[in-house]
Amino acid sequence: MGGGGGGAHFSRGRGLTVFFCLLGLLSLTRAARLSVERQKLEVQKHLNRLNKPAVKSIESPDGDIIDCVHMAHQPAFDHPFLKDHKIQMRPSYHPEGLFDENKVATESKERTNPITQLWHMNGKCPEGTIPIRRTTKDDVLRASSVKRYGRKKHRSIPKPRSADPDLTNESGHQHAIAYVEGDKYYGAKATINVWEPKIQQPNEFSLSQLWILGGSFGEDLNSIEAGWQVSPDLYGDNNTRLFTYWTSDAYQATGCYNLLCSGFIQINSEIAMGASISPVSGYRNSQYDISILVWKDPKEGHWWMQFGNDYVLGYWPSFLFSYLTDSASMIEWGGEVVNSVPNGQHTSTQMGSGHFPEEGFGKASYFRNIQVVDGSNNLKAPKGIGTFTEQSNCYDVQTGSNGDWGHYFYYGGPGRNSNCP
Ligand SMILES: *[C@@H]1O[C@H](CO)[C@@H](O)[C@H](O)[C@H]1NC(C)=O
Ligand SMILES: *[C@@H]1O[C@H](CO)[C@@H](O)[C@H](O)[C@H]1NC(C)=O
Repeated sequence: MGGGGGGAHFSRGRGLTVFFCLLGLLSLTRAARLSVERQKLEVQKHLNRLNKPAVKSIESPDGDIIDCVHMAHQPAFDHPFLKDHKIQMRPSYHPEGLFDENKVATESKERTNPITQLWHMNGKCPEGTIPIRRTTKDDVLRASSVKRYGRKKHRSIPKPRSADPDLTNESGHQHAIAYVEGDKYYGAKATINVWEPKIQQPNEFSLSQLWILGGSFGEDLNSIEAGWQVSPDLYGDNNTRLFTYWTSDAYQATGCYNLLCSGFIQINSEIAMGASISPVSGYRNSQYDISILVWKDPKEGHWWMQFGNDYVLGYWPSFLFSYLTDSASMIEWGGEVVNSVPNGQHTSTQMGSGHFPEEGFGKASYFRNIQVVDGSNNLKAPKGIGTFTEQSNCYDVQTGSNGDWGHYFYYGGPGRNSNCP
């Protein structure tokens, strides 16, 4: 509350402040006040933990602050197991062939649309630093608790086969996905159409991603996830943002989005996890897509992530996981939304473009050139692709293949409509 020193002309304001303070004191019990104080302190402590000292800060047009943090000061190194970790500046193996630096350099120059994240309009991070989206007090306060901030609320992995109908519907999460299982996988790749789906309720979200899964669908599920999402709860707006997630215990105690806990080690100075992607596709208009590749380094065992053709973002150290220390047993690609059943009806939160697969290119959202990394560390077309959706009248998926797009699928939908009441 305000009301510090001030001239005589402030006295009326100060009188009002005192009046409201008294009201406040009367209505709050001592215990409640203490708990408010405790929460404030807890939020501040959490912010201090997450937001590392910046070498430089850049204000993005969407209101984000991007802090350029010295690579050695990133959140990963708060992890006790990473105290003496030597950062790997490049993977020892890349499934698309070992790096040819000249090739990468010319490709970068030839890129026609260099803006991939909105904050690039206002600056760059210096070499040796990584860009981190600053967490605000409001970000943390929107979470159900400080501890839950940056974590998924429910078990929300689509479990295609022998799916327990009650369970899949209970959490309110709905999916439209393609998947492969029954082999050992060492990575996955996809080019994902980028849209800005409408979210009906702030506690809902809509995302499009790939999942690298290991273990059973029990308490010990290992998962690495990457893609784009719109999540008002997590970010405070409706922008489409690049995100990652990981867990080694089915979303219970380990893992988080982006760099919101220690785990992922970032080496790239240009792409910020959780930052807005720009531009996004328009209905019957220009189409934009991003490619994401996640693969396991056969030498060190770490899981690396690449964004686009030239941004190797960093890696999840192998020790974070149990099953994924060896390989993945299932890969999924597709969309997920939360249906909170507002007013007893299905949510009108959109998945993908908000249009059904039948509409095709320029209207429905797609994943193209979906691939897996096999036991010889090569990118391969996935074999035996299955599809899954809880309610195809709300959100659907349709696969196909051709020379240009390899294996692809269209997915998504509007949510609530006459066939999805
Ligand atoms: C989920 O619930 C809807 C509506 O109650 C139902 O039609 C659908 O079959 C359920 N989905 C699954 C996978 O059981
Ligand atoms: C996000 O979109 C919803 C409707 O789709 C709107 O009600 C809400 O105000 C938007 N939130 C922000 C922060 O722009």
